[in-house]
Amino acid sequence: MVASRRGSGSITLPTGQTMTIHTRTHEEEDLPHATKKTMADHLRKYESLFTLTPQRMRMIVEAFKDSLELGLQKPKQVVPMIPTFVFGWPTGKESGDFLALDLGGTNLRVCLVTLQGEGKFEMTQTKYRLTEEQKQDEGQKLFDFCAECLKTFVDTNFTDEDGTSLLKPGELLPLGFTFSYPCYQSRIDHGELIRWTKGFGAKNTEGRDVAEMFRQSIEKYKIPVVMTAIINDTTGTLIASHYVNPKTKIAVIFGTGCNAAYMEDVKNIDKIKELKINEQDQMAINCEWGAFDSFEHEHLPRTKYDMIVDETSNKPGEQAFEKLISGRYLGEILRLVICELIDEGVLFLGQETYKLETPYVFETAFLSLMESDPTDELLMIIGIFTHFFAVETTLAERQFFRALAMLIGRRAARLSACGIAAIVGKMDYLDEGCLVGADGSLYNKYPGFADRVHEGLIDIFGEKGRNIKTVHAEDGSGVGSAIIAGQERRGPISACISRFMEISVTLG
Ligand code: BGC
Repeated sequence: MVASRRGSGSITLPTGQTMTIHTRTHEEEDLPHATKKTMADHLRKYESLFTLTPQRMRMIVEAFKDSLELGLQKPKQVVPMIPTFVFGWPTGKESGDFLALDLGGTNLRVCLVTLQGEGKFEMTQTKYRLTEEQKQDEGQKLFDFCAECLKTFVDTNFTDEDGTSLLKPGELLPLGFTFSYPCYQSRIDHGELIRWTKGFGAKNTEGRDVAEMFRQSIEKYKIPVVMTAIINDTTGTLIASHYVNPKTKIAVIFGTGCNAAYMEDVKNIDKIKELKINEQDQMAINCEWGAFDSFEHEHLPRTKYDMIVDETSNKPGEQAFEKLISGRYLGEILRLVICELIDEGVLFLGQETYKLETPYVFETAFLSLMESDPTDELLMIIGIFTHFFAVETTLAERQFFRALAMLIGRRAARLSACGIAAIVGKMDYLDEGCLVGADGSLYNKYPGFADRVHEGLIDIFGEKGRNIKTVHAEDGSGVGSAIIAGQERRGPISACISRFMEISVTLG
């Protein structure tokens, strides 16, 4: 049949499936929709499940602080507090050309960063989207792909029009490798993958030195680079943000995954005492806070939807904090609530809902769009549900979905505030105040995320919470990586590193 511009109908797809088409009209009542009152009653239930009181937040902060301390004291704790071997802040005077390769949650990026000193820089970059297969395939193949992309980038940017290399014979370009997964480090150019996160599962990689694996791929493709550092995106963000604004003391990423880094006094990192590093030094710590409350699940308020997300993930029990906060999971949490209401016969009665039943089809970007829909009729939400899921919604349902997105997004931001507050409290930054360099798709694109984090900080600390401000960070995975690669090439840090290389300990 030809679908009319108004009302509803169904068409048979080439696959044989039937797709119901509903064009929204003023005659919404022709489908058995839930009443406004029913939706309001359900919303109240979800409000109580997803709302965090200031008191609860303060309790989480206390437990969080204990976990951070424990991670510094002993190796291999749940929150591993990884010493990064990045010593101290940049001077802001770093300069020169550096390559950075950034393997994050969703994309692979190759960047050429020109540091111009005085906190200034320029950057050229190429981005590649990773496929789901690449994330699950053999690890070495993933690094081969990284090397292939790097080679194309170097060939393109370092040859003239005749194809002649612009590099001097034997010249090697310094490369910082931003690898945004938890790795134990015993040197700056070494990183043993503890576990994949963010849905990655590439085989034969966990427990191995990923820097060495990538080096093998670089050699295979004969690329004229020398990898001087492997760094986490949060460490890069910390260094890059401080390069641009020295008031930065903490860096956070709220993207596909979530995490934080800050600068710690070496004398407070008990678990590396045997390395006999100068106690006056400072070292960046990659907290890997996404793992907070993993396995035991004692402190975080998990709903049954969070538990399903966890149990059906490729890493049950792990990254408990991250699973409540990060962009990879928020859409899925909302989808699970919708599916429950479909099963209970509340939503979409008489409509085909199979499109909503596939895990992870409801992207976190939809929550952002729903929250930022400026129209009274919530036309954006109509678009999402009809275009992507072929279901018709009433205004009451759309208001409900928007409110639900708000609850899930707000909880994520308030929990993020708890993590920041734990570092602020532990380091005693509250009175003097500090900037928190922040990056990641959730922070940058989710409407109101930063404001909600700030509100959360005030709920935790009272008025003094205003002293802590998140600011959009400079591209840490690129610029931070370049600055660190640059520091390494200059040498002062390399000199101390070689001292530690002789001491074989596994750090955590
Ligand atoms: C990883 C961290 C990373 C964060 C943000 C987490 O899943 O474990 O290493 O910093 O995502 O990208």
